Amino acid sequence: MKSYEKLLSVNKKWAGDKLNTDPEFFKKLVNVQTPEFLWIGCSDSRVPPNEITQTQPGEIFIHRNIANLVVNTDVNLLSVLDYAVNHLKVKHVIVCGHYGCGGVKASMSQNDFKLVLNMWLRNIKDVYRLHKTELDNIADEEQRSNRLVELNVQEQVMNLAKTSIIQRAWKNNNYPYLHGWVYDLHDGIIKPVSEIKAGDHIDRLYEFDDL
Ligand code: CO
Repeated sequence: MKSYEKLLSVNKKWAGDKLNTDPEFFKKLVNVQTPEFLWIGCSDSRVPPNEITQTQPGEIFIHRNIANLVVNTDVNLLSVLDYAVNHLKVKHVIVCGHYGCGGVKASMSQNDFKLVLNMWLRNIKDVYRLHKTELDNIADEEQRSNRLVELNVQEQVMNLAKTSIIQRAWKNNNYPYLHGWVYDLHDGIIKPVSEIKAGDHIDRLYEFDDL
């Protein structure tokens, strides 16, 4: 059996098992999607959101990209955010990074990863520059990249708070709650590293007065 064929056959077994446990399982999900969470995570195959949080289909709306970035010109991410906040009315938005992130490590190198990856990694280099004094003082390279993982998550949560999508939702509905988390590949534990909620203030320059 080819590797992709195994995926299809395991899928059939999974669907059968689900029906055996709950004959209404798929029926319940077909017409309604009411997730409480939007998850913005790294595309890394070792950090599967549903598995590490033991959540079921229907519980988390998911967007993933390299190094879990919130880029304010990324139409894909902003569409997901807009839909999750304004239509699904999620109560929490979680940015989840992970220690040992290849994207974060790559951003710390001087390597040319060619055009499109260079463009993406530039966003993480900018985070490094914002925290250069702290990061340059960490001698151990692994520790330095792990600290950048945490700072990057904090910065991406801040990037969410800078959007009019989030600020308008805060003004009208008092949610969503924004969370920054970091997953540890060594023990499977998620560490919260930042939170921003309605009523909290960010740099005045980014706050809209006339929403
Ligand atoms: Co990663």
